Amino acid sequence: MQVTIKKAEQLKAKPDENKLGFGTIFTDHMFNMDYSVEKGWHNPRIEPYAPLVMEPSTMVLHYGQGVFEGMKAYRNQQGGVQLFRPQENFRRLNTSNRKLCIPEIDETFALKALKQLLTVEMDWIPSAPGTSLYVRPTIIATDPFLGVRASFTYRFFIILSPVGAYYAEGFNPVKIMVTKEHVRAVRGGVGDTKTMGNYAASLLAGDKAHKAGYTQVLWLDGVEQKYVEEVGAMNIFFVIGDELITPMLSGSILPGITRDSVLELGRSWGMKVSERKISIDDVIDAHTSGQLKEIFGSGTAAVISPVGELKYEDTVITVGDGRVGPLAHKFFQTIQEIQYGTIEDPSGWVEAV
Ligand code: PLP
Ligand code: COI
Repeated sequence: MQVTIKKAEQLKAKPDENKLGFGTIFTDHMFNMDYSVEKGWHNPRIEPYAPLVMEPSTMVLHYGQGVFEGMKAYRNQQGGVQLFRPQENFRRLNTSNRKLCIPEIDETFALKALKQLLTVEMDWIPSAPGTSLYVRPTIIATDPFLGVRASFTYRFFIILSPVGAYYAEGFNPVKIMVTKEHVRAVRGGVGDTKTMGNYAASLLAGDKAHKAGYTQVLWLDGVEQKYVEEVGAMNIFFVIGDELITPMLSGSILPGITRDSVLELGRSWGMKVSERKISIDDVIDAHTSGQLKEIFGSGTAAVISPVGELKYEDTVITVGDGRVGPLAHKFFQTIQEIQYGTIEDPSGWVEAV
């Protein structure tokens, strides 16, 4: 399949690279491709970024049959552009597709199309420290129909957004709050996919956390509400004694690509690394006994995000001394250096555009 390219007649003014937040500015072009039962995925095209025109009855608007991904394009020191493990994102997009009854995409083709889009938008990739071009591939159900079934037609699009830090805190510790009042996902559900409804389901608890002065929610398992799962937009790690622990992939946690990278780096540094169940009581007990050294989150948008304070019911703990811990710092630095190409990429994670 050939990607056709239609260039925008007028280009937007580029933003100030030193004032980028997250997800508010979009580039001049986007990628679009359609699916129908007769034609399969067809008509791949790069065209001006524009509103989607759809009927109010469009299925995704009613039943949330849609999936997305999040990755970043980084400008390296030589002025070139690179992606971090993009094949993993398209692989996960297909995992999400299968669970949401959406036809799979050709992962190799999708990566090729993304690289073409990035080539068109090269001037949008920022170079200020800590900035990147966030990539949001999305697939939505487009049948105009109100019955509940899988759609017969879909739109796959990719949009791009120049970004800085995800959290207003930057690389400073965030405060997170454990909730027992709400659950995000249960085993057998769709918690391990990037589908829209998971984020909708997290909003009320997130809102309550904000009102209480916390940045995000730390979710517990949906059955016993005992075991730690993940944070709203990142996976979670604990350093207890000399062990680096993250909850195992139980089926209700997103298998984060940054999570996997942290695990692999930790192992390569000779650390004791565990993917296992960890209860919130274990975390609090480890703090009480002085063994809880660090907590940090991992994600594409969040990179590595140290946690300085954790609230669970009436208990509030300060993690370490409330500042960035040495391991969070080391993971942050190493992952960023690989992503921006300032150190050698030991595992073939980086893909040139
Ligand atoms: N968990 C959730 C719910 C997320 O939205 C994300 C972000 O993509 C992550 C974890 C981290 O995943 P990744 O490292 O692949 O970005
Ligand atoms: C990401 O880290 O890419 C995410 O998708 C998290 C969030 C912005 C939804």
